[in-house]
Amino acid sequence: MIQRKLEVTYRPFDRTTRVPPGTTVFSAAHWIGLPIDSTCGGRGTCGKCKVRVLEGGTEATTADHRQLRKDETDNGWRLSCQARIYEDLTCEVPQLLRVPKAATMGLSRLVIIDPNVRKVYLELAEPDLEDQRSDVTRLRDALTAEGHDMAAGVAVLRTLPMTLRDAGFKVTAVLAGEQLVAIEPGDTTEECFGVAFDVGTTTLVGTLMNLRTGMAAAVRSTLNGQAPFGADVISRISHAMNGPESVDELRNAVVATMNGILDELYAEANVKPERTYEAVVVGNVTMLHLLFGIDPTPISMMPFTPAFMDALSVPAREVGLRIHPGGYVQTLPALGAYVGADIVSGVLATGIAREDKMRVFVDVGTNGEIVIGSSQRTLATAAPAGPAFEGSQIKCGMRATDGAIEGVQLSDRVELQVIGGDVPAQGLCGSGLVDAVAQLLNVGLLDHSGRMLAATDAPNHPLADRLIEVEGVRAFLLADGVYLSQRDVRELQFAKGSIATGIKVLMDILGVQASDLDEIFLGGSFGSYLNPESAKIIGLVPPVDVDKIIAVGNSAGEGAKIALLSYRERQVAFELPTRIEYVELSGRSDFNDAFVSVLGFPHLELVS
Ligand code: FES
Repeated sequence: MIQRKLEVTYRPFDRTTRVPPGTTVFSAAHWIGLPIDSTCGGRGTCGKCKVRVLEGGTEATTADHRQLRKDETDNGWRLSCQARIYEDLTCEVPQLLRVPKAATMGLSRLVIIDPNVRKVYLELAEPDLEDQRSDVTRLRDALTAEGHDMAAGVAVLRTLPMTLRDAGFKVTAVLAGEQLVAIEPGDTTEECFGVAFDVGTTTLVGTLMNLRTGMAAAVRSTLNGQAPFGADVISRISHAMNGPESVDELRNAVVATMNGILDELYAEANVKPERTYEAVVVGNVTMLHLLFGIDPTPISMMPFTPAFMDALSVPAREVGLRIHPGGYVQTLPALGAYVGADIVSGVLATGIAREDKMRVFVDVGTNGEIVIGSSQRTLATAAPAGPAFEGSQIKCGMRATDGAIEGVQLSDRVELQVIGGDVPAQGLCGSGLVDAVAQLLNVGLLDHSGRMLAATDAPNHPLADRLIEVEGVRAFLLADGVYLSQRDVRELQFAKGSIATGIKVLMDILGVQASDLDEIFLGGSFGSYLNPESAKIIGLVPPVDVDKIIAVGNSAGEGAKIALLSYRERQVAFELPTRIEYVELSGRSDFNDAFVSVLGFPHLELVS
């Protein structure tokens, strides 16, 4: 059932947004990029986020009474981070008193640097017979005076007495949210790092971020150490089915890969592991299950129910990740068993679901994950595409490494772009496959149904001598020993047909046409390399102006960095599952009809 949205208007900006009941005034403002001041990141302890409610009501909370004067609460002032919206309302936002530090992230998004991890330097009064407060009370009182709440676990308490005394009670408190992660001698506020991880089935990318400046200190990527257990999610799950030891094997493999990346990041940036306090990790649902050693088997079976889809915050020492042992591993939530935290992260980076533009986000891989919508309504789904885009099940298919054809241009001759520059072509990777098919359509050697012409059908065509037969199947010769066969074209048709169907079904539910689309983002390790023009010619994406089709690179990694740098943006990501409706394609009666309608290639006049 779809919840009725409530309207909230912000003066003096005259900006309005519609949000689900229960959203805070602070979060709703953040959704539409309005600046409300804060130093506590929305925890109700700094008192800076106050707004005046002009129309509609919201009860004063305990935090309001603590932070605001009585005449203020009587006059409608509320802490926007605590004020939940249960009816339409209008409020007034005071001008920002300070200019916040910001960094440009993702798709040119300006992100205010306000990380979950904060360091506070304190010079505490030394205890004496007049002041016998316990160490932790002394610390908490000092932090409260600075506007921070604090909770301390036993591990950090063990180090507290000696650290305080050795440092002459001049210490830096490290907080992740309210949790005291560490207490460090002296002023270490300059050294504050976090790491953003995109854990892909094939590749892992780690970025060490300076949480003070918002800059990346170092970036590394490497192959997922789970590769020996299979190339894709399903083979990893099959291995996990062998029992708890196998789940552990997979867990150890991915943790070892992440720790290997961390070691390289620390060495390159000259940063100590104990100065890295938080890891934001995104990945598909299976990858995150395996990272925590949770059996992912049910994800692969009807009715596809994961053990968890929520955002988890787990102590780093429990995960075995080499950051500060008191630090945390934070994941983002998923939208469905096959639309994971990596997609939520991509949505965060691209701004879909919070701006007025109607946008499509497609992550193209063995699964096509699709998100379509605007701030009004957003839908998501996953369409099984099979391995064609990854280059497997294609006769001359290969991964995107040296020797792979990644670009094809046909005219009266064949021009190839081969990864590695001057190396001979050895095969065809996904983007080369899409290009080859699009170009064959362009020069008339493939028809709208996907049928490849034989040399005898087009004897005068300048490329007729390239039309060959291999083991009785028509094929087009791209380079010595590398060809595209009729069967490959069919494989690609099924793969792109499945994704195009997912897009069509979601557009139909939203009631939008191609002409209503403002932008199409192609994400994921494959989508980012795809030629937008070719994606359009083969009908993978709807027919829009080619400059509206944008490759967004590693949007999952960008979203993880944003969530690391900004507690508020992280809250936005946490709320995405309540703002985005997940549509299950299997079992839909309109799926087959839609699939048949997009299986062929669009007529060229429709896409030009
Ligand atoms: S009290 Fe700090 S953001 Fe609301």
